[in-house]
Amino acid sequence: MEPVFVAPNWLSHPLVLYPTILIALATILVRVQSWRFGTTSKAQRRIVQADPIGIDSKASSRPSAKRLPGQWIPVDFKAPDPPPYPDWDVKSTKPLPYRPFKYGPNYFVTMGLRKGNFDEWIELDNEFLKFHAIKKERIEVRGDKCCKTAPEAMDAAIELLELLRDYLPKRYPSMFVATPVGMNNIVTGEQFNIVQRPLAEEPMRTIGRLLQDDIAIMMEGSDGQYYLKSGSILLPGFWKLEEKFNMNLSDIHTSGNVPQFREKLEKGMTNFFKRVMPDDIVLRNNYFMQVDDNLAWSDSIGPEDSDHTGWFTAQKNKVIENHWFRSERQSLRRLPRSGGVVFTIRTYFHPVTEIVKEPYIPGRLASALRSWGDDVANYKGRERYQAVLLEYLDREYQKQLDSGMITEDSQSPLKYPY
Ligand code: HEM
Ligand SMILES: *[C@@H]1O[C@H](CO)[C@@H](O)[C@H](O)[C@H]1NC(C)=O
Repeated sequence: MEPVFVAPNWLSHPLVLYPTILIALATILVRVQSWRFGTTSKAQRRIVQADPIGIDSKASSRPSAKRLPGQWIPVDFKAPDPPPYPDWDVKSTKPLPYRPFKYGPNYFVTMGLRKGNFDEWIELDNEFLKFHAIKKERIEVRGDKCCKTAPEAMDAAIELLELLRDYLPKRYPSMFVATPVGMNNIVTGEQFNIVQRPLAEEPMRTIGRLLQDDIAIMMEGSDGQYYLKSGSILLPGFWKLEEKFNMNLSDIHTSGNVPQFREKLEKGMTNFFKRVMPDDIVLRNNYFMQVDDNLAWSDSIGPEDSDHTGWFTAQKNKVIENHWFRSERQSLRRLPRSGGVVFTIRTYFHPVTEIVKEPYIPGRLASALRSWGDDVANYKGRERYQAVLLEYLDREYQKQLDSGMITEDSQSPLKYPY
């Protein structure tokens, strides 16, 4: 058998080897020290430490773990100003090519959180105007069904609006311009006043117009549980804000039959929400198949206002052109003043026939679909599309081999989630 890895000769020389081991140990130590769910960067810490009020700022960004459930002590963390998104243009910046599926043979249900970066909190691209038009129409037609805020989360929703007013004009200056009272979208011509009271509209509607993302704000109750208390859920695909509003995290997930929620997710999520602080930001990506091209609501599982939606109603084995790849890029961070936890859900939505042109994608997607256990396959409706989709993906995989685009034993150099 071939050895998998052979250490080069120079590495085994004591003068190289011992310092290498020492450095490796020191690195691990530093990592473990600063581990929470991720770490803050030096730049973020500097901001926290440059606290003008002069109180112990590190302590102020991490209020006592002994605070009473449901109470939050405001902290004065501010994320560093983001640099403009490189060369961002509403016509030419393509959606980021997230392809967050892994080769089988096994699929593991995990929280899948990774550390994020405050600069990359909100992602916008050349589908902004398409998303914006759909959202605008749904705000008019569906209104409170998609956007609402409980009184106890109103301060958090307004804090989020203020955070976006700080962030968007710096990150996307060719679209958003700050004004004394808020900001303007100079592409759509919208003007947003966030200081007048009462506000011109429910803040989650405004937030819906500013972003491609959907947004949920979770508030801690006096029982220590986190409740969905504010949302701008305009493009959810498979669920409805009205159904989940005021639910705790467990009910949100178990009512949707999220596979292995109790066994694999609940404990970690409870801990995460308890501990996440304003100077943390985490990301996760997921993916689904959809057998229609409706971004806002996948009507193959039934009409949006029906009480009996589900994959069981979907037509089986439609032609391949009806198969769409739907993937969410989610972020979580805590609002420093109100203590609300903001969940952003950015959907990326492409025909399968498009993404299969990318090297490795058909083979890896086919492998991932086959790796789902029965519970995950049921949740994601595989039985309704697997015959057509797998046959197609296998064929496209073979074409990539035949054309020399890929070889059987090579793998994409791109790292997860790409
Ligand atoms: C640590 C944070 C979280 C984790 C690890 C998590 C995990 C999951 C997982 C594994 C699923 C199944 C689909 C997928 O793979 O994404 C799911 C579905 C879902 N999650 Fe979460 N989630 C988190 C936070 C939240 C929050 C804050 C909300 C608030 C609205 C939420 C709402 C939902 C909904 C509505 C679904 C779809 C349920 C359905 O099919 O009816 N999740 N989540
Ligand atoms: C979530 O809410 C439900 C319904 O009110 C309740 O039965 C359940 O115990 C709650 N979950 C947790 C973890 O508190």
